[in-house]
Amino acid sequence: MCGIVGYIGKDNAKDVIVDGLKRLEYRGYDSAGIALIVDGEIFTYKKQGKIRNIEVELRRVPVYSNVGIGHTRWATHGKPNDVNAHPHLDCTKKIALVHNGIVENYAELRRELTEKGHTFTSQTDTEVIVHLIEEELKHSSDFFTAFLSAVKRLQGSYAIAVITLHQPDTVFVARKDSPLVIGLGEGENFVASDVPAFLSYTNRVIFLDDFEIATVTSSQVSVFDLNGERVGKQTVTIPWSLSLAEKAGYKHFMLKEINEQPRAVADTISGNLSWLRKETELEGIDLNSFNRIQIVACGTSYHAGLIAKFYLENIAKIPTEVDYASEYRYRDPIVDEKTLVISITQSGETADTLAAMRLAKKERAKLLTICNVIGSTATREADTVIYTYAGPEISVASTKAFTTQLTALFLFTLYLSRERGTLSSEEVERYLRELMELPSKLETFLNLEKEEGVVRKIALEFYRAKDALYLGRHVNYPIALEGALKLKEISYIHAEGYPAGEMKHGPIALIDENVPVVVVATKGKVLEKVISNIEEVKARKGRVIAVTNPSVKKVGELADFILQVPEVDEYLSPVVNVVPLQLFAYYIADFLGYDVDQPRNLAKSVTVE
Ligand code: G6P
Repeated sequence: MCGIVGYIGKDNAKDVIVDGLKRLEYRGYDSAGIALIVDGEIFTYKKQGKIRNIEVELRRVPVYSNVGIGHTRWATHGKPNDVNAHPHLDCTKKIALVHNGIVENYAELRRELTEKGHTFTSQTDTEVIVHLIEEELKHSSDFFTAFLSAVKRLQGSYAIAVITLHQPDTVFVARKDSPLVIGLGEGENFVASDVPAFLSYTNRVIFLDDFEIATVTSSQVSVFDLNGERVGKQTVTIPWSLSLAEKAGYKHFMLKEINEQPRAVADTISGNLSWLRKETELEGIDLNSFNRIQIVACGTSYHAGLIAKFYLENIAKIPTEVDYASEYRYRDPIVDEKTLVISITQSGETADTLAAMRLAKKERAKLLTICNVIGSTATREADTVIYTYAGPEISVASTKAFTTQLTALFLFTLYLSRERGTLSSEEVERYLRELMELPSKLETFLNLEKEEGVVRKIALEFYRAKDALYLGRHVNYPIALEGALKLKEISYIHAEGYPAGEMKHGPIALIDENVPVVVVATKGKVLEKVISNIEEVKARKGRVIAVTNPSVKKVGELADFILQVPEVDEYLSPVVNVVPLQLFAYYIADFLGYDVDQPRNLAKSVTVE
């Protein structure tokens, strides 16, 4: 994980970098630091803690420089403390480096460099890189060559940015398996782990690929492969505006992002309509080339995959398996050229998801990715990309990415079903109309919540709970999982999601008047069954919070608390039903005073295995 930023240009690098780090804090936030070239010396400032805690001090530091790098850390090797915070320096203090990733051969490199007389000050794997460059410089004609030779010796994953007194007008960067993007300005250029870091300055970017390095000056960006040969790169314009990456008056990004869902779902529909309506091609997919689907994803994206299995099997009639990407890699899956592998990933950078994709590609499977980040690694490695149009998701707990993933997966199902003849064009249009009504239904729900605060009041009732049980069935079983995940991620309350019918085989033992039981009980083929499950909970004095529709009177009578959601087609109900559960978790975490957007130990983009 970790976020890196670099700047070279006409402004005060310190301010640009601190701004950028704040926008990348979702990537890790246990310590932060910057390095600048000031009056022929490298100045560093680094400290344990979140950027906002050290921002005031950072801003106060009386230095001015046009070139610098910065880092926000999610510790892997070495505790989060001031010493282990990046940037790291070489022995001569002429080279400063920030790194995101893991250097797998760091122990042997460290041994070798120590024997050669280098002194290490931190416990990080990162520090070996800067000493390695210093060592290579002894045998190289220039800094670029030394940088290249050092990078070639690294095993593992890295996005690196380096500044040096040996060539003070250049930021050197390199990438393998960790994201790195270069922002193109006028008389200034940027480097970062992710676009929002510099979106207030430019939306024109170059994505670095694996095994590429680049030299970035204020007026020029040159990209090379590891043989030192120049590589031609495309400039991409990112259609995101800065306002999407700001809180816009909301207390937290999570609350803002929950409230953005009507817009995000609408944009995801309209952004993908052209291929659904066959005005354009969904390139890279031959619908006759596969006879089964495997979905790989992590976290919340995995829950979207579990719901997509219902779509793809029940509507498109294609056998579909769903795997945690981290498990898929090690279970020796049966995957071949007749398999379509769908990866679902908000960031497009999750290490396990990328590894699962690579494994499938090796076995000649076709790859489709459902992704939110233009130019991310998943989009570049897949044969076909379907974008979600959520806009930047900053809060670590995923919300709008999830509902837009479901939207995109449903659109793909409609496309597949029509082409394979399991739905008529009329049926596709009927589903599409239902889908298009979702944004206004979500909007109605969210507006009502703003006025009446029903979810908020129920959260107030339960925020001291120690455990919670979430139950659902059929397409809403994954919503029970997602509701439970949201609660534990941000409020640190132990929560379990369970298929309601399975409750009697274990979790029922937990039920008493202290354990809230959240039940998804909206209209659908399993509603009567879910009602029986609610009866079973009530018979054990459980307190039931039910997500249901106004017309489902029985649930209204049985449950202790009701979260009413608009009625929609059963397959689309997860998109609506998840929203009160997102809000429930949000309010509980907020009542408990936790840092909602940056929960402990978590990071948004998990770029390590
Ligand atoms: C992390 C995030 C989750 C996210 C998961 C998968 O765990 O905290 O919110 O669902 O990674 O991320 P991806 O970007 O691949 O969807």
